[in-house]
Amino acid sequence: MSTEQGPTRPDPGLPDFPGLPADFLWGAATSAYQIEGAAAVDGRTPSIWDTFSHTPGAVDNGDHGDVACDHYHRLPEDLDLLSGLGLDAYRFSLSWPRIQPGGRGPANAKGLDFYDRLVDGLLERGIAPWATLYHWDLPQELEDAGGWPHRDTAYRLADFAEIAVGRLGDRVHHWITLNEPFCSAMLGYHVGCHAPGRKDFPAAVRAVHHLLLGHGLATQRIRATVERPAEVGITFNPAQVYAAGDSPEHLDAARRADGMGRRLYLDPVLLGRYPKDVSEDLERRGAPLPVRDGDLEVIAQPLDFLGINYYFSDTVAPGGEDEEPRRVPQPELPLTAMPWEIYPQGMTDLLIGIDRDYPTPPLYVTENGAAFDDSAFGTDEDGRIQDSPRTAYFADHLAAVARARLEGVDVRGYFAWSLLDNFEWAYGYDKRFGVVHVDFETQRRTLKQSAVWLREAARNSRTR
Ligand code: FCB
Repeated sequence: MSTEQGPTRPDPGLPDFPGLPADFLWGAATSAYQIEGAAAVDGRTPSIWDTFSHTPGAVDNGDHGDVACDHYHRLPEDLDLLSGLGLDAYRFSLSWPRIQPGGRGPANAKGLDFYDRLVDGLLERGIAPWATLYHWDLPQELEDAGGWPHRDTAYRLADFAEIAVGRLGDRVHHWITLNEPFCSAMLGYHVGCHAPGRKDFPAAVRAVHHLLLGHGLATQRIRATVERPAEVGITFNPAQVYAAGDSPEHLDAARRADGMGRRLYLDPVLLGRYPKDVSEDLERRGAPLPVRDGDLEVIAQPLDFLGINYYFSDTVAPGGEDEEPRRVPQPELPLTAMPWEIYPQGMTDLLIGIDRDYPTPPLYVTENGAAFDDSAFGTDEDGRIQDSPRTAYFADHLAAVARARLEGVDVRGYFAWSLLDNFEWAYGYDKRFGVVHVDFETQRRTLKQSAVWLREAARNSRTR
């Protein structure tokens, strides 16, 4: 008679997520500039974020990524941490100026060696590497040559892709070309709150097109460089828009917000055309998309998956600056420390809307998470921060993903943002998104309770 025990009983403290299959992919995410540090080590040259963060007034507290989590020098420890979380996959990004200093020309062997160690370390621990090629750290020399508003940058991304995939493609099977091109283009070149800090709307619109062109070219190049099973996708942060009223003006504001925040990116990539209403609005505003013959065929490469990052939704009304819709705060919603409104149903609606409006490949949530002021929470006997609002945020959003699945949306995985507290761009180190606490004085890492919860939730969902 078998002495084997039956399947592990679900921990009563853990919610069950009906709708998430046993093979749902559980992961955590980071990006290079936010964690690596070692900014001038082993041949790395500055990126636009090095320049921007060293510009007085650009980042809260004058913070920068020179050291960050010093992940470059603490790789084995961080790999062990990740392994202790028992997740299936780790999403990280490759630092372009570390691998190809200056953004053109030959590869830097030491930069590639680092990612070799990272990828091998993940595989040894049974964790699938998901690599993002571009998570915002454009080599400064390419910005000096015109940056994303300049068409040539798209071709440079394809060359970088070839170098990265040529070295790592035998072991990395999931490639994300771009992270959130909306942010690279609009926050970087229009709003100016992200690197390179320009405030030039027509330049930002040119950046949108060249980022997407770069995505298409890089996708082609990845496939020409490695044989399948390489899976290629792109990560968007599509806006989930609600109208604050039902007047025609409100509906038009919602159309525009959805156009600039979602359709401008998804339509060209998934349908092979720009949305007509948005292109016309942009032309009228003196900011045309610089499309050349054949570009849209390049941009609309068939994809193996689509990455979606979700943090909050937008409720809009007419009357914002520069003809843009105005965001209307929803005072009944709780806030994170950013302060971003917490609205999990927005994620269900977003996923269902994308599935409804597009012929989509399988979807993955490639980022979702929350910053809270962890110093306000107590610690348990193991010194773990009792960050129950963060845990609740994860639980509520995983339930939102599960609801979308029950509605028939093919969402196959979820990456928590972020593995570690890190450099949160213009907010510096004060905004902590990690499931692992980092003491930036000592570089000591300590699991938060949310990390333990994620581990148990993942295990629970696999054994159900
Ligand atoms: C996303 C970014 C990621 C992180 C989170 C909070 O927009 O992709 O790097 O900053 O927001």
